[in-house]
Amino acid sequence: MRTILYPGSFDPVTNGHLDVTIRASHIFDRVVVAVAVNSEKKPMFSIPERMELLRKVLKNYPNIEVASFHGLLANALKEFDACAVLRGLRAVSDFEYEFQMALMNRQLNEECETLFVMPSPDYSFVSSRLIKEIALNGGDVSAFVPPDIARAIRKKAEEGNL
Ligand code: PNS
Repeated sequence: MRTILYPGSFDPVTNGHLDVTIRASHIFDRVVVAVAVNSEKKPMFSIPERMELLRKVLKNYPNIEVASFHGLLANALKEFDACAVLRGLRAVSDFEYEFQMALMNRQLNEECETLFVMPSPDYSFVSSRLIKEIALNGGDVSAFVPPDIARAIRKKAEEGNL
């Protein structure tokens, strides 16, 4: 049973994250999508909200689970019985940060290998940061996130909670 751990902020989950997760689910027996509990000052969605939304959009994939983790990613592998970390690489611009993180994680835990999956080029320009910025300024994000997420963002906006 081979498990891969896909960590991230997922605030919010985008079509690009989904694409990476589903591709990995075809290769690994189990994919654990893990929301990092960190101290981001102004998240759009709380950790429980992000987990609920991830569960909603991934409900049709029996070998994909949603979880959260505290502290260092390098220490979380064991907790989920995972053999490696999964990260998406959209473009060369992602590479430097990801390369640094992968090597640092391996320095912290020599068993912490990172595997990269390239999402479809359709999503190469999609990021949670831009989704948040577009939503904050009243734009339509429905082409970049699953319908459940677009609905949740609209609801936050209507409630004045963005
Ligand atoms: O979706 P993101 O924001 O690009 O994900 C970044 C994430 C959560 C994977 C990274 O910040 C992380 O691993 N955080 C946990 C704390 C940690 O281990 N930091 C050191 C990384 S070398």
